[in-house]
Amino acid sequence: MKIIAANWKMNGSVRFAEEFVSKINEVQTNHKVIVFPPAELLGQFQGFRYCLGAQNSAIASSGAITGESSPRILYDVGCRYVLVGHSERRTLFREDDKVVFAKWQEARNAGLIPIVCIGERRRRWDTLQKQLSRLRGQDLSQTIFAYEPVWCIGTGVTPPPEEIDDVLYFIKGLVGKQSPLLYGGSVTAENAKSILSVNNIDGVLVGGASLDIAGFSQIMQASV
Ligand code: PGA
Repeated sequence: MKIIAANWKMNGSVRFAEEFVSKINEVQTNHKVIVFPPAELLGQFQGFRYCLGAQNSAIASSGAITGESSPRILYDVGCRYVLVGHSERRTLFREDDKVVFAKWQEARNAGLIPIVCIGERRRRWDTLQKQLSRLRGQDLSQTIFAYEPVWCIGTGVTPPPEEIDDVLYFIKGLVGKQSPLLYGGSVTAENAKSILSVNNIDGVLVGGASLDIAGFSQIMQASV
């Protein structure tokens, strides 16, 4: 069993979410499926048979932080997972490793399982080491990691499977084997099977391709 996660980013609509839920509910899979819609659409997932997550959560669960999403309330509305430190958050909102750590901590306090995203710009593995430095030595039993090389996100480019395997092996060496490790960046219905066959992989985080319901259903059914 692998983890198949869908990050819609800031896409979708009420109508699309309704269609997605009704069609994906019909799809059988042995994998664990987690969907991360925009927070505004979480309410459309009543009756969804798979898992739900949020794309972001705040560094605190309550208080005076206008416009942020409380991890406690996200849990309350049905989320069990949250993405932390996605490269778009790190770049567009200048979230540094300190903020990522605070969000990881607060998400766990609220009962959410954080999926901590890490990724380097130019095949510089020391970046990954730096991004993980605060988390190393912590209790990572309820944490998932997603390796998403920045140069592969939304570009249609993926590293060769052997390279993905090498990086995942490197990351497991840093964080231990207890945390599931996903790959993300231009995963599609066409390449999902070969990526999911990589040795050290526990699943995939799918962005753009998760908005194509038929294609995402195929990824959910990839036999590995
Ligand atoms: P992509 O995005 O699949 O569209 O490359 C992946 C992600 O950002 O999680």
